[in-house]
Amino acid sequence: MAKLSVSDLDVRGRRVLMRVDFNVPLEKGRVANDKRLRAALPTIRFILERGGRLILMSHLGRPKGKIVPELSLKPCAVALEGLLGQPVAFAGDCIGPAVESAVAALADGQVLLLENLRFHKAETDNDPEFARALAALADLYVNDAFGTAHRAHASTEGVTHFVDTCAMGLLVEKEIAYLGDALETPQRPFVAILGGAKISGKIDVIANLLPKVDRLIIGGGMAYTFFKAKGWEIGKSLVEADKVELAGQLLSRGGDKLVLPVDCQCSDRFDFAARQVGVLTPTPVEAIPESASGLDIGPASIAAFEKIIAEAKTLVWNGPMGVFEIDATAAGTYAVAQAMAAATQR
Ligand code: 3PG
Repeated sequence: MAKLSVSDLDVRGRRVLMRVDFNVPLEKGRVANDKRLRAALPTIRFILERGGRLILMSHLGRPKGKIVPELSLKPCAVALEGLLGQPVAFAGDCIGPAVESAVAALADGQVLLLENLRFHKAETDNDPEFARALAALADLYVNDAFGTAHRAHASTEGVTHFVDTCAMGLLVEKEIAYLGDALETPQRPFVAILGGAKISGKIDVIANLLPKVDRLIIGGGMAYTFFKAKGWEIGKSLVEADKVELAGQLLSRGGDKLVLPVDCQCSDRFDFAARQVGVLTPTPVEAIPESASGLDIGPASIAAFEKIIAEAKTLVWNGPMGVFEIDATAAGTYAVAQAMAAATQR
């Protein structure tokens, strides 16, 4: 599918509205990990160096249409300023007269970040009037929010109906090139590894990948929804109750291709906010105690995944194997990363 790229656009003196994914972790009002900001830098610099007037917009967390001060994007403006080495103006909202004035005040090569889109319920509702108001800020629209491109929201899908010229950013272009190659002409065995907490965001990915891959490894929080579908006790582990049935369907469709963890690291005590976890016990996945949560893949799963990864010729990975933000439960994710690095080197 041919796609217009930001590099095809003449941005000089034009108002460029760009959707980025600044859904970053915050700690004490500061950006705790700026990887997503850095990922957007090539497109941001590309536009600014060519004299575009850049308006950045993003969501942060899931405030569900309410103004949640802790989820303000202001810390991202501060962090971006440091990375870019130039001022980043910040608007207290993403639509309305004050935002329009801030946009009008932009000179060529200047940048403005709008406040969290999801403070408006209209964003996730993909409300056409909200999309139209966003579009009114811009001459050109660029989507460089690879991590959010699967959402049909006002700032990702709706807005494109109201701006004449819409293009992808350099991050999206790069990701599509990598993924396109992997999916269209993979060297086999082709193995995909999916993890992370949210099965809901990845069901379509799993369904899509199944016919293309030789093995599909599932780890992380989403694996417990599959265990539930098998009828096993999963204790207090993460589960998406409304996706259990679908997980069951994927299990029967996937057959031997679908590889789930055989054991997990369980604990009775887990406090993510305080980054605290109790004693961890490697436990077979069909024997998770009622009082425990599975927080990482266990040693037997690591060994099994390492073997499959070592034999693969093409690997695609998305999402951690456990609660990697806490050292004690990061081992599975690191083991997969190391196995992938070794396989890549070979
Ligand atoms: C993510 O971090 O997965 C993306 O930013 C999308 O966030 P969402 O799942 O809240 O839409």
